[in-house]
Amino acid sequence: MAGALKIGVLGCGKIAHEDHVPGLLGSKGVKIAALCDPLPEQMEALSAKFGLDAAKFTDLAAFLASGLDAVVICTPNRLHPDQTLAALKAGLHVLCEKPMAPTAAAADKMVSAARNAGKILQINHTLHYWPAFIALAESVRRGDIGRVVHFRCLRTHDSTPDVGWSPGATWFVQKVWNGGIVLDIGVHMAELMHWAAGPVTEIAAMTSRRLAHIDVPDNAAALMRFESGATGVLELSWTIPCGGGLLEVYGEKGTLRMGFNDGMTLELITPGRPGKPVRVRAAKLPPKPPNSQQAFVRAILGKAPTPTPGEVGRDAVALCEAVLKSGESGKFVKVRRF
Ligand SMILES: NC(=O)c1ccc[n+]([C@@H]2O[C@H](COP(=O)([O-])OP(=O)(O)OC[C@H]3O[C@@H](n4cnc5c(N)ncnc54)[C@H](O)[C@@H]3O)[C@@H](O)[C@H]2O)c1
Repeated sequence: MAGALKIGVLGCGKIAHEDHVPGLLGSKGVKIAALCDPLPEQMEALSAKFGLDAAKFTDLAAFLASGLDAVVICTPNRLHPDQTLAALKAGLHVLCEKPMAPTAAAADKMVSAARNAGKILQINHTLHYWPAFIALAESVRRGDIGRVVHFRCLRTHDSTPDVGWSPGATWFVQKVWNGGIVLDIGVHMAELMHWAAGPVTEIAAMTSRRLAHIDVPDNAAALMRFESGATGVLELSWTIPCGGGLLEVYGEKGTLRMGFNDGMTLELITPGRPGKPVRVRAAKLPPKPPNSQQAFVRAILGKAPTPTPGEVGRDAVALCEAVLKSGESGKFVKVRRF
């Protein structure tokens, strides 16, 4: 494909299979030119499944020097900051998986490095690319329910990701790899809460570990105050047998409710006139937007800014960092702002 953007995939595990490679193959003007993973069998499996014609590297420096324009980082969490900095230093645009870093300070370094290099840094905050979540966030921001009073966000799974999602990937439940539920699924929810209702200023959280064989929180409950004065709760669990998700945003004029267990529903609930029942309507969903990989390509080509730049990932990490710190200290923690 002459003139195509040459993109490399760093880390060839589950998310490369499920999201990035199909997403890149569905993007115009892109060639997956190289793969990198310390395990050759991971690269072979990815290549064979999608019929890729890509060079394979086990060495990061050789991969980054192989003539790429951009890299998609799909490795375990701990590796994201250093790999992003190395890719930017090599002059490449970066689409990095969430969580971009374990701390807001580390995330900030990545944001600064991208700015200084004049390269795109996009974080794969996938909710930003789903019509139902876009509809919820835009509805709140538009004021359909008036000023937000309270934001409730619950997300649970029936197992840890090394069991249900990527069997054997035990790094997901190890502190040394920046695993744990807060940085894993909490970071998605943090991003959504910030996007819809604005910055959170302080947090009081309880984190717990019910599974004996892991050393990171597998459950968390956080109470928060938004800058707007609204309150919020974030509830996370990896140990509830009937996993699911529920978002409820209560405003001065109505409520938005979204369930995401099997499929998604988004309802706008407004009060009826006195003596009349409450009105519940299915909220209208926007058309499907470009997916994350298409958005990345458009941003590289200067066609549209990325919806999820490093700054978005940094805010989400800052919120998670405060949840973790409060869970450890038992004290209110201010969320770092930039
Ligand atoms: N955006 C989302 O919704 C979403 C969903 C799932 C996972 N993720 C994120 O994607 C990332 C990867 O998750 P996964 O489920 O694919 O994990 P995984 O364990 O299935 O795959 C990770 C891959 O990285 C490889 N790897 C390890 N060290 C490496 C190194 N130094 N250089 C290159 N490759 C290396 C491993 O060999 C493996 O192939 C994580 O950060 C995770 O949080 C995001």
